[in-house]
Amino acid sequence: MKRIAFLLIAIAVACLVAFTAPASGHADGEAAPIFGIKIPSGYRDWKLISVAHEAGNNNDIRAVLGNDAAIKAYREQKLPFPDGTIIARLAWRYVPSEENNKVFGRAQSFVAGPPVNIQLMAKDSSKWAATGGWGFAQFDKDGKPNLPEASLKTCFPCHEPSKAGDFVFTHYAP
Ligand code: HEC
Repeated sequence: MKRIAFLLIAIAVACLVAFTAPASGHADGEAAPIFGIKIPSGYRDWKLISVAHEAGNNNDIRAVLGNDAAIKAYREQKLPFPDGTIIARLAWRYVPSEENNKVFGRAQSFVAGPPVNIQLMAKDSSKWAATGGWGFAQFDKDGKPNLPEASLKTCFPCHEPSKAGDFVFTHYAP
């Protein structure tokens, strides 16, 4: 009986490790410069806003995810986004899938390859009033901040053309 109980506990622990490790991503690491934003815990489980593919030098495929505040604002079509909104943009290399192509019998399949980086936009209208209420951050594939202050200063100016969308480009994919 004792042995069975021990076995059950061991299995439970193993499952916990197996299921929590990949999903938790790189949360609670180092803060990125200027805005001091860290990767929020649980971001990898956030809901999908949309996807995008950038060709050219980026050559990536990206998912844009939102925390609950972001998703609620999108679904209710309410702008500006409320304080507490966080939008995460995850990018992976855009690679052909030999495995899938073999099944299709021709070269047509592209999938997410190795991770590239994570970008975040977080809303706090008083703290970050000078940048439209948004703080910006970028992290490498291992969750480490990987941009100096000078580069982070280029985020907001490039998002400014989307002022009508509260400086966010991505539309909610129904
Ligand atoms: C050259 C202009 C440009 C710069 C610089 C830029 N962005 Fe963006 N960003 C865009 C465009 C356009 C999109 C939408 C298309 C896409 O996802 O590729 C976008 C999308 C995003 C998104 C998804 C939400 C949205 O607005 O659609 C986040 C988050 C984001 N950028 C964060 C950042 C951060 C952080 C930086 C600075 C490190 C940054 N961006 C710099 C143009 C830019």
